Amino acid sequence: MTAVGIDAIEIHTGKLKLDLAETLAPVKDKDPEYYTKGIGLAASSFPDTYEDIVTMGANAAYKLMDRRGLTPQDIGRIDVATESAFDNSKPVSTYVAGCLEQVFDGDFHHANKGERKFACISGTQSLDDAYNWIRAGRNRGRSALVIATDTALYARGDAGEATQGAGAVAMLISEEPDLVELSTEQGYGSADETDFLKPNQQFPSVDGKRSVQVYLARMREALEDFESVAGDTHPDDFVLGPFHTPFPGMVRKAALLAYRHMIRDTEIEEQLADEVGRQPRPEAFDSDEDYVEAMGDYTDLLKGTDTYQEWYDSTIAPTLEISREVGNWYTGSVHIARASGLKAMLEAGEDITGDRLLVGSYGSGAQAEIHAETVREGWKEEIAALTIDEQIAARRDISFEEYERVHDVHNHDKQADDVEEFTSPEDEFVFDGWGRMGERKYRYVE
Ligand code: CAA
Repeated sequence: MTAVGIDAIEIHTGKLKLDLAETLAPVKDKDPEYYTKGIGLAASSFPDTYEDIVTMGANAAYKLMDRRGLTPQDIGRIDVATESAFDNSKPVSTYVAGCLEQVFDGDFHHANKGERKFACISGTQSLDDAYNWIRAGRNRGRSALVIATDTALYARGDAGEATQGAGAVAMLISEEPDLVELSTEQGYGSADETDFLKPNQQFPSVDGKRSVQVYLARMREALEDFESVAGDTHPDDFVLGPFHTPFPGMVRKAALLAYRHMIRDTEIEEQLADEVGRQPRPEAFDSDEDYVEAMGDYTDLLKGTDTYQEWYDSTIAPTLEISREVGNWYTGSVHIARASGLKAMLEAGEDITGDRLLVGSYGSGAQAEIHAETVREGWKEEIAALTIDEQIAARRDISFEEYERVHDVHNHDKQADDVEEFTSPEDEFVFDGWGRMGERKYRYVE
């Protein structure tokens, strides 16, 4: 069967940086380590006044198409995944296509366009749509462009303010891809939940503590569902585990539970038995409460073992490096986790061609999805082309007062149009004011 998967990837970060320990912590009267160690983030990316989900998405897509020498004729569909859309009818992908038509010869009139919504998981769902379109033989040799773009802002003062971020990931989905092949097998964990939602409002209503529990519960279901079709998972099967990363502290919790699940009834559980005992089994307990308590104790001990820490350091920690610097990008987060892990492998000189990734996506509301990916031969060249380190370093570090102004600029309910831009746009798409029907307009700046 022809391999289908991610052929190319580009990442575009918002051009402003809010340093959480230096800038946010003193104003919020928080210990800096609450951010850097507890939440696990050093900084958040923010969009400058002329940036938004369209400019960030179009800039990522332009870089990708330009680098790969593609024309609009090579692209048969454009799907944008976002939970920051500003229009309930016209999809963001049409705006992105309009931008790209300013800089490429030809047009995208032949391309199917859409917008996917299911909180943060819609980026992965758009990958599925592209995968299925190619597998169905409807692509006529063309590739799909999937763009995950978000401005993840919370109301000021919300606990989520510590986890904000903004950026876009563009991915090219093709036959015989250069980066990773997607597995046909998938697992889902999906339920009607009210943990994080935006009922016709820009900033989310969040039950933060509950959202953490729902993430873990749905992820666990998805892993079990994945195993029901792909067979049992084992830690040694996967070189990296990129998970949706609202903040690294969340993945720290998820990874421990995933590891505990994967080692059950394996030689690793046996080898650790002298140190931490065997995992409690429900049938050995009179009540669920006792079982849950015993499992909690076992999990705490497991976390402290060298075996677990080594696995975490090699398989999970590398996926969190970009996220730590940019915050939550909602739909793009799991895709920067994948890129981050692969980049760390490249920098460490590892050859992981043919190795597998276990990818865990999540969207509030709520749904988790787990699938596997196989690293393809062209991965090193693709990952070496990323410029995310340079972009991160070039961001303008803003003060708290500047952050408040930028937050207002991007608040749909405020008309803060008079705020000066903090950086000068160059070779990129920018927001260019409003059209006669209330549409947002864009132009390319040399
Ligand atoms: N030094 C070191 N660590 C510290 C610390 C300090 N001084 N102070 C606190 N910590 C630790 C805490 O112990 C805690 O770690 P553990 O959970 O491992 O114990 C961690 O820092 C966070 O502290 P709190 O739980 O007290 O933080 P909080 O309640 O203020 O906020 C949050 C956490 C509720 C998740 C909040 O950030 C939030 O609401 N975020 C938005 C929702 C979210 O991201 N949910 C994640 C799942 S939903 C999802 O994934 C979808 C999505 O993208 C939004």
